[in-house]
Amino acid sequence: MNPLSKLASQGEALRVLIIEDSEEDTDLLVMELRRGGFAPLYQRVDTAASLASALDHAKWDVIISDYSMPRFTLAEALAMLKARQIDVPFLVVSATIVDEQAVAAMKAGAHDFVMKDRLARLAPAIRRELRECQVRLERRNLEEQVQQSQRLESLGLLAGGVAHDFNNLLTGILGNASLALDMLNPSEPARSMLESVIQASERAADLTRQLLAYAGKGRFFVRPVDISTLVREISELMRTSLPKKVRFLVDLADHLPPVEADSTQIQQLVMNLVLNAGEAIGDAAGTVHVITRLETRSPNGATNAAVGRHVCIEVGDTGCGMDEATRAQIFDPFFSTKFTGRGLGLAAALGIARSHQGQIDVETSPGAGSTFRVWLPAAEAAAAEERVPAGAHHSHADLGGTAAILVIDDEHLVRATAKSALEYFGYTVYEAEDGSSGVDLFRKFHDRIALVLLDLTMPEMSGEEVFDLLRQIQPEIPVIVSSGYDESEATRRFAGKGVSGFLKKPYTAETLAERVKSVMAVSSRRMRA
Ligand SMILES: Nc1ncnc2c1ncn2[C@@H]1O[C@H](COP(=O)(O)OP(=O)(O)O)[C@@H](O)[C@H]1O
Ligand SMILES: [Mg+2]
Repeated sequence: MNPLSKLASQGEALRVLIIEDSEEDTDLLVMELRRGGFAPLYQRVDTAASLASALDHAKWDVIISDYSMPRFTLAEALAMLKARQIDVPFLVVSATIVDEQAVAAMKAGAHDFVMKDRLARLAPAIRRELRECQVRLERRNLEEQVQQSQRLESLGLLAGGVAHDFNNLLTGILGNASLALDMLNPSEPARSMLESVIQASERAADLTRQLLAYAGKGRFFVRPVDISTLVREISELMRTSLPKKVRFLVDLADHLPPVEADSTQIQQLVMNLVLNAGEAIGDAAGTVHVITRLETRSPNGATNAAVGRHVCIEVGDTGCGMDEATRAQIFDPFFSTKFTGRGLGLAAALGIARSHQGQIDVETSPGAGSTFRVWLPAAEAAAAEERVPAGAHHSHADLGGTAAILVIDDEHLVRATAKSALEYFGYTVYEAEDGSSGVDLFRKFHDRIALVLLDLTMPEMSGEEVFDLLRQIQPEIPVIVSSGYDESEATRRFAGKGVSGFLKKPYTAETLAERVKSVMAVSSRRMRA
């Protein structure tokens, strides 16, 4: 049969699929729709095959069906919709329907039925069903969002767990390789191999850092920061990491309110966005811009956004842009469209934004570039603190010492690495494999031990409890807390207690010695004062 399509010029546009064997009845229906204020664009079908083809090749706002047709049944029609997961209002119009039939039709998925002699009911019934269909759609979208965020959450937990173990392993690799390098004669040919080992483990540490950031588990030093200052600090680095032909524009607002943030992480986030922006432009000419500003509205398109003042970091490019299918997946870990991509940049960026109670939104279309916006809630506190400058670099000769150091870590590899490194630099080392034996050792030897290197996450007694007990025995004991990660809350609680220093795993032998040296220097100054 020939599909029949007609377009009416006035009224509310409505794409109607009519399942009906009589042309006459179809005309009646269409007339009724026009009278009800619609401008129907319609097609009539009366076989299973033509219905299938109409469903597969066009989008419909509503389906109106006769109850009894000679060539196929209503139940078949409804089953075809179900199989295709099509959810549009389905109304049955019939001259003869009886109550049981109506109930059966509704059970099979029809939304309403209208008697042929009361067709004036048709238009209002369609309007109501369209509204309800919209509600169903919104609910489904919401459920999908919830499922998506649960999926991301469990991936985050997994990533966090793997990254934690990796950090311990990498501490063993990096620590020992750097120590071995240090011990070797400058003419030794094996040095270059060890240098490669160190480089590779530093790359692995970088990946691990991204995983942790994605898991929202990398916040260490949270304090009020000025986002413009923070971006300015890495603007040279960003410029040099962009392809030569790319113009780089930076526009940073003055006097932004501070944001409670971990600067290193926010810098990583911005850097990830800028790297992607550069890659989206590639070898062509183009522009990447980074803008910071204060926003008083809530983030675009975010339904549950906390309303209030936000600092917005915008990273835009004139690169390839994205289609909708790509855009929908960019924050998934390991999603990448690049040949050598790892797909962690944006996943990490989102993890960082979330762990700062922030959000990221994206505006993009193919060929039209992309603009990423990161929204971070402004702290209503006093002005941002100046960032503490990174510790001065000690020359190798300065790094030695003779004091006794207690290393508490449940991971044998980490303990052994720290011990070899510290002994190499002249220290005496006591080891403990868990919190309680660490505390016992300290109780016995506290007059000899000058510093404790404490792992933050151990089974049984947590680093925090151990810390409290150590300080009870000797309130002045310098304690360096070491960890690949921990939840920001725990870290913050720790920070209030006056931990002497943090040491991020993995570390090289030299970094460890450096940290020990500077913490000891500070604490002996304090003792003298
Ligand atoms: N600025 C951008 N323009 C176009 N596509 C982008 C942009 N940023 C990210 N993407 C897309 O998102 C994907 C994931 O990005 P990311 O998580 O950083 O991983 P990777 O860069 O390793 O592929 C990219 O492969 C790319 O398809
Ligand atoms: Mg990337």
